[in-house]
Amino acid sequence: MSNGKVREATLEDLPAVIVLEQDLIRTDAPGDPYLVRTPMQQEMEEQFRKVITGDWGVCLVAEHGDQVIGYLSGGIKDSPRWRPARATEIHALFVRDGFRNVGIGAQLVDTFVRWSRERGAQVVEVGAFASNARGLQFYERMGFRPTMVHLELPL
Ligand SMILES: CC(C)(COP(=O)(O)OP(=O)(O)OC[C@H]1O[C@@H](n2cnc3c(N)ncnc32)[C@H](O)[C@@H]1OP(=O)(O)O)[C@@H](O)C(=O)NCCC(=O)NCCS
Repeated sequence: MSNGKVREATLEDLPAVIVLEQDLIRTDAPGDPYLVRTPMQQEMEEQFRKVITGDWGVCLVAEHGDQVIGYLSGGIKDSPRWRPARATEIHALFVRDGFRNVGIGAQLVDTFVRWSRERGAQVVEVGAFASNARGLQFYERMGFRPTMVHLELPL
């Protein structure tokens, strides 16, 4: 990545991260009629505040100059008793249009993988919409493989 760096977010980054999260929510899974596209700003802030200040999670930001142009949030996952892998999970990953395809997403994921290893994780999990071919291809390129597939019957 040219002229950029990935670091852990501080509370000062909250407004910038929320703008990116809103972009993600607005553009993810186009056409899905059930997605809440306008979540409560206050709830979102509260959620990020917890991730940034808690030791069970992390919010990473990618900077270009003094601009935040990408983020990843994730944390330790409670695995089910029937599959007790020590896992972390990526909750959200977004790189602003215009800054994609130069390795920023990979750098965010690599940093999260390092964070996960340092906490003794055996696997890193992530969920993505089946319609997000670009996102799925990205994760496969990063070494992720499907385990469970979530199916839905429209009624
Ligand atoms: C998915 C997403 C985070 C990837 O971010 P990104 O910064 O573009 O990712 P990278 O640049 O690391 O990798 C993207 C592609 O560019 C290629 N690439 C990486 N570094 C490169 C470089 N220096 N030069 C040219 N190409 C490069 C990679 O091979 C990769 O190819 P792929 O699409 O076949 O996997 C981004 O597209 C995005 O925000 N999408 C919308 C939200 C989303 O789908 N999030 C994930 C699901 S929740």
